[in-house]
Amino acid sequence: MAASETSTPVHPGWPVVGNTLEFARNPLAMFTRLSQQYERVVRISIGGRKQFVALRPEDVKYVFQENNRNYVRSPAFMILKRFLGEGLLTSDGDFWRRQRRLAQPAFHRQKLAILAQTMVEEAVGWVDELAESVEAKPGAPVNMSQSLMDVTMQIVCKTLFGTEYAAVSGAGHIKGLSHSLETLNYLANQMLLTPVKVPRSWPTPSNVRFRKASALVDNLIYGFIATRRQTGESRDDLLDMLLHAVDEETGAVMSDKQLRDECVTLFTAGHETTAVSMAWTLSLLATHPDIQARVQAEVREKLGTDRVPGADAFRSLTYTLQVIQESLRLYPPAWAMSRMALADDQLGPHRVPAGATVLVSPYVLHHDPRHWEQPDRFDPDRFAAGREKERHPYAYLPFGGGPRLCIGNQFALMEMQILLGLLLRDFTLQRPEKLPVPQPLITLRPKTPLHLVMQRNTNWFS
Ligand code: HEM
Repeated sequence: MAASETSTPVHPGWPVVGNTLEFARNPLAMFTRLSQQYERVVRISIGGRKQFVALRPEDVKYVFQENNRNYVRSPAFMILKRFLGEGLLTSDGDFWRRQRRLAQPAFHRQKLAILAQTMVEEAVGWVDELAESVEAKPGAPVNMSQSLMDVTMQIVCKTLFGTEYAAVSGAGHIKGLSHSLETLNYLANQMLLTPVKVPRSWPTPSNVRFRKASALVDNLIYGFIATRRQTGESRDDLLDMLLHAVDEETGAVMSDKQLRDECVTLFTAGHETTAVSMAWTLSLLATHPDIQARVQAEVREKLGTDRVPGADAFRSLTYTLQVIQESLRLYPPAWAMSRMALADDQLGPHRVPAGATVLVSPYVLHHDPRHWEQPDRFDPDRFAAGREKERHPYAYLPFGGGPRLCIGNQFALMEMQILLGLLLRDFTLQRPEKLPVPQPLITLRPKTPLHLVMQRNTNWFS
């Protein structure tokens, strides 16, 4: 007998608004309750939309991997198209598959090794600047949330556009590409989170700001592309890799519009997520001095005293990587993900009708005692080699899974190893007075910016 939709439990809520208020009050607590109260799948209603929450890793695997062709981006993503165009994050179906095939080689190991050297140079500059500000005001807390946003933005812009970006940001007459991209990102997030959608044509202050920033970004990026096409010069950056990408199946290359959309997408997807993960990692290390000391011992041994170590050295920071993985478990920036079913489907006995949204929360899976012993404890040894066998592969998904797995996952891990390694080589983080509380917006970020007192490690270079 075919299972019916009614066999799926419905989480009780209020008339008309359903579970919207419970969700708005504290989404993490609500999803945690759902995973404690229900076995496998539960139906909720947020903002008038009926949604199915998949609570088991095997169902997440089914949606993300085994039957992924039946699941597309949910309608909420469409708002981002205004800013991102048809990039990897917002496209679906054959168009997405082709773009993914074209972009994938830019993230292969050898290509990343080239980008990693740019990351190291930027990170050394960042640590030097921090040293100056700490020396100017010893013992004063530094706003690390802001500092990390700045350095990850710098890194994503430099790895995307290389020398052109350096020229543009050095030129006094424009405010800079990064500033405008940041404005667009901010306004697009606002639009996503505001229930009342204002038509684009209205001259509201945000629409005007949006149009101005859009025009600047487009002018610059199309300018970069045109210069590269004219000169035919090769560079060591992502734009170059995308520009020269050829689809092996069809021989097709990306148009200027596709290049623009992918560049803006990579900027958006690759910047805030990394900054936020780094902030959580630092906050965990500042409150676990024993683990911080273990990272510092590894860094001291593997990086040596070269001011600018070779990028390869960072690959051997294995314990540092475990710390980052564990921090991504406790605070996954993408704390919830959604998909829309194209055709009717089944998750075990539960029917998912065509058009329904399926929600998955990495945050909940990462804190589920069925998959993790003492799930709230910060214990990087969970990620020691070989221990992944102890859990279902879909019980840990900070980068998603299946064909839509984050294309920048290795880029992000490398970047974080570099930033963390170089920071802890020079500094020791002091325990903060107040620990940041998670705030689940589009990413899971600290509710208030992370301020840390940092002490300079003076004796390492003597
Ligand atoms: C710690 C940092 C990061 C985290 C936690 C993260 C997380 C994720 C997750 C969970 C997804 C899948 C979303 C879904 O399936 O609905 C995703 C997709 C994506 N990420 Fe990341 N990401 C990070 C860094 C980056 C970086 C550095 C880049 C690029 C340089 C990047 C580019 C992308 C792109 C383009 C997609 C869409 C892929 C597709 O659908 O084909 N991400 N990311």
